[in-house]
Amino acid sequence: MTVVGGGVVGLSIAWQAATTGRSVAVVDAEPGRGSSWAAAGMLAPAGEAHFGEDPLARLNVAAAARWPAFARDLEEASDSSVGYRADGTLLVAVDHADRQAVDDLLRYQLELGLDASRLTASECRHLEPLLTPGVSGGAEFRHDHQVDNRAVVRALLDACRAAGVVFVSDRVRGIVTRRGRIERVDLEGGGFRATVAVVLAAGAWSGTIAGVPSPSVPPVRPVRGLTLRLRAEGTTGTLARTVRGAVHGRHCYLVPRNDGSLVVGATSEEKGFDLSVPVGATAVLLADARELFPALDEYALVELATGLRPGSPDNAPIVGRASPEGLVVATGHYRNGFLLAPVTADAVVALLDGAPDVEAFRPFTPERFGPERAGPTPAEAGAR
Ligand code: GLY
Repeated sequence: MTVVGGGVVGLSIAWQAATTGRSVAVVDAEPGRGSSWAAAGMLAPAGEAHFGEDPLARLNVAAAARWPAFARDLEEASDSSVGYRADGTLLVAVDHADRQAVDDLLRYQLELGLDASRLTASECRHLEPLLTPGVSGGAEFRHDHQVDNRAVVRALLDACRAAGVVFVSDRVRGIVTRRGRIERVDLEGGGFRATVAVVLAAGAWSGTIAGVPSPSVPPVRPVRGLTLRLRAEGTTGTLARTVRGAVHGRHCYLVPRNDGSLVVGATSEEKGFDLSVPVGATAVLLADARELFPALDEYALVELATGLRPGSPDNAPIVGRASPEGLVVATGHYRNGFLLAPVTADAVVALLDGAPDVEAFRPFTPERFGPERAGPTPAEAGAR
């Protein structure tokens, strides 16, 4: 089988499929890079729960519960740490309107049965003494954790290689069928790869592969996100857990790593496939993060990274069989790629093994959007 795309979702599928005895190739010019490299690695069923997205919130909760075993297996297979940290997340509000927004969100999360509780300003600062005295209150999400996204993709690459996955350093230009079945994938470099099964896990580019019949083209769009990586200098203190902030109507997050570094994110912009770093949005993100966590001034800014989240029309993943025979779609993970990668891999392997469907993903099949597709054409996708 051929996995198109070597991000966290494609690599997780490739690894799980190879460990069940399949012969697997991953086609990607830069496996492990792209949005998986730019991500922060939050596993946030509560922090990413939004009004009206109940089925997705339920999937996200199940996905978070899958992570401890996935992390353990991956660490064993790769002989490396993936930085799984189960220390929860604090959501803090700055002004009165932010506090109202946090309370509204908290109410929705409690209705969904998520494990969260309201905190006063002093309770927030008791948990995180380096937060600004200006916080107006917040909430604690005890089941929103994190992994080190870069450690995860490195471990997946190692685990895939150890399981016999072949990496093809190229891009898939198109899928070629014969009598309704997949016969091969053509590569941009000019070659091809004979294959009877294709898993389309190309993130924001999943709608741009030629030869996929229009009803099967996943309607994903690129949503650019910027993250900043910062290194602690000298005796600068850090955070004990992930902090998400509602800051004057905007959102940001600060994710502390085991090595004392910090990942700050993220912008959210719809600018097509443009991966450039916008000065204005960077300045706003940094200002919001500094307002929450003034000690940020003592950190060194070491990297700015942009990635393209694969957004779908309902913000939920698109996972399931599609035509032609042999095609499985696994994309549209939007803001939850790391969270959803293990359960997506489980689902895709079950489908490849012949399961008629996978219960957890029934609301998220490619058919739910009907025959009309909104994904960009290969021409619109431009150079990559
Ligand atoms: N899940 C975090 C983000 O998409 O920025």
